[in-house]
Amino acid sequence: MRFFVDTAEIDAIKELHDLGMVDGVTTNPSLIMKSGRDIKEVTKEICDLVDGPVSAETVALDAEGMINEGRELAKIADNIAIKVPLTWAGLKACKTLSDEGRMVNVTLCFSANQALLAAKAGATFISPFIGRLDDINIDGLDLIADIRTIYDNYGFETNILAASIRTANHMSDCAKIGADVATAPPAVIKAMANHVLTDKGLDAFLKDWEKTGQKIL
Ligand code: G3P
Repeated sequence: MRFFVDTAEIDAIKELHDLGMVDGVTTNPSLIMKSGRDIKEVTKEICDLVDGPVSAETVALDAEGMINEGRELAKIADNIAIKVPLTWAGLKACKTLSDEGRMVNVTLCFSANQALLAAKAGATFISPFIGRLDDINIDGLDLIADIRTIYDNYGFETNILAASIRTANHMSDCAKIGADVATAPPAVIKAMANHVLTDKGLDAFLKDWEKTGQKIL
């Protein structure tokens, strides 16, 4: 499963990138707002750092506006994936932009029907939002599983990009289901390393090592 980092914070991306944990980056208007930076400047900086797909989101509500914004964002770098919302206008923009050979990430997906439409519109990525479904007591992972089944039934090439990931368990659960990509905040990716028994075991090893009086260096 590819790991995308869901942030526009350069330092956080670099820290994980240096560990080989970054296969791509996703941003959205909220993450750009949080960064306090100009969208084109910060996105260019991310694209210079990361070779994989970097999602930059349009903000128009009509198809023509999304297409024009998408073409503008795509000028930033060759690895830009243009993000459009899962609306009818977004699907029209997706079809046009993907027909032009551009990577398109269709976002704000909350149902299997929406994901089916995005695949037929030629989406490179579909972004189902797990956490926001969980927030309303619907199991977001069930949606990932449903989309996986549907795409596999018909050989759709659209990549399932699990989004709105809130916990380390979401990451492993998406991997078990077979999501192609999971995009998560840096803290969630780092939390995947945490386990109380690892800490306890290391503490015990070092206490016993201290008793040997030895040093390795
Ligand atoms: O990529 C979508 C993600 O940023 C949304 O996450 O936690 O606001 O639902 P969240």
